[in-house]
Amino acid sequence: MAVRLGDEAPDFTAQSTEGEINFHQWLGDGWGVLFSHPKDFTPVCTTELGYTASLKAEFDRRDVKVIALSVDSVADHHRWSADIEETQGMAPNFPMIGDADRTIAGMYDMIHPNADSTHTVRSVFVIGPDNTVKLTLTYPASTGRNFDEILRVIDSLQLTAKHKVSTPAQWKQGEDVIIAGSVSNDEAKEIFGEWESPKPYIRIVPQPEEDRSEVGATT
Ligand code: BEZ
Repeated sequence: MAVRLGDEAPDFTAQSTEGEINFHQWLGDGWGVLFSHPKDFTPVCTTELGYTASLKAEFDRRDVKVIALSVDSVADHHRWSADIEETQGMAPNFPMIGDADRTIAGMYDMIHPNADSTHTVRSVFVIGPDNTVKLTLTYPASTGRNFDEILRVIDSLQLTAKHKVSTPAQWKQGEDVIIAGSVSNDEAKEIFGEWESPKPYIRIVPQPEEDRSEVGATT
């Protein structure tokens, strides 16, 4: 069964490189990124996990915990971590789940048999503080993910969870945003004062001020 936007992220207990983890307990009140990779000791996965480790301060700043998963064993993850540190300059600084029996891969539909019947594809799930799924991504094995894009989407998700706005194409932190379609012009006047409107259905305002202390508090 596919995990879709708005669904509760399936809970599980699993062995990881940081010991046994109960997923919902581990997430606590903050945001999470659960991402799968096809196989330990492979080149693209090695670059992905090293790069993600290098983004730790960025994930921390956003109150986001990161956790990786593949159908390899925890022992393999530990051995592979040394290679990641040697080749990418940084070992994973987040737990890596060993899902050898594919229980979690099954729950999250991370195995796409027409691509690879035994290994997980490159799935990403961003999970909000209410434990619901806010973003899903699926990449093939041959394409390494852009983890800066995942941070960018998290910025948008955290902003739009607090303010009645949406973010346009290519938006980045600090750039103008769009008043949400659900907001009437009367309400928009109260909240935003004024806006630029190249068409009646496009209402552009500066990004509302953010209070990082609230990022993990609500959705
Ligand atoms: C890679 O990460 O490079 C990879 C993963 C699975 C199959 C082939 C390559």
